[in-house]
Amino acid sequence: MLEIINNRRSCRAFSSQEVEKEKVDLLLRAAMQAPSAHNEQPWAFIVVTDKNLLFKYAEEVKSATMLKEAPLAIVVCALRDKIKTPLYQQDLAAATQNILLQATSLGLGSCWLGVAPRAERMEQVRALFNIPEEAEPFSTIALGYPKDNSIFNFRDNFNPEVIHYNRW
Ligand SMILES: Cc1cc2nc3c(=O)[nH]c(=O)nc-3n(C[C@H](O)[C@H](O)[C@H](O)COP(=O)(O)O)c2cc1C
Repeated sequence: MLEIINNRRSCRAFSSQEVEKEKVDLLLRAAMQAPSAHNEQPWAFIVVTDKNLLFKYAEEVKSATMLKEAPLAIVVCALRDKIKTPLYQQDLAAATQNILLQATSLGLGSCWLGVAPRAERMEQVRALFNIPEEAEPFSTIALGYPKDNSIFNFRDNFNPEVIHYNRW
């Protein structure tokens, strides 16, 4: 597990190789194993392989140019009727992170693209994918085989200065 956590890096350059359906299923299974407040599991997912939609996303939404070549994206959404607490975005973040880690373990590159709570991006993503009012987009994950496997090289982020023991 530590190896997967250490090797995950944001990937912004993808080869054109498609992601196998079995791997997409494993990514979705990993997402749904995330913890959620009150076990509400307030999520829904849009699996995007349509190249026109991916290209349009890259053109319209800020900081998403890698979607011009990524063969796959997963849009993580919240289901409003399952939202019982203001903690729900943390549930969706946990699901998003599970997808990133599962992607790394499958040899896939991934990049978390922030959507919520930026109202403009949420509306852009809602319009692109016909997301109904009962749902709201939270994040998008760009996925695919990396152009260059060196993205998986470990970069140490450990910083002892941010650790406090018992009290700040
Ligand atoms: C909430 C969130 C939003 C992010 N949004 C974007 C984004 O819109 N575009 C992008 O290229 N990267 C985005 N990233 C990826 C970060 O830039 C990246 O995680 C950070 O630079 C650290 O690099 P690493 O993921 O390789 O460790 C986002 C990451 C998070 C957690």
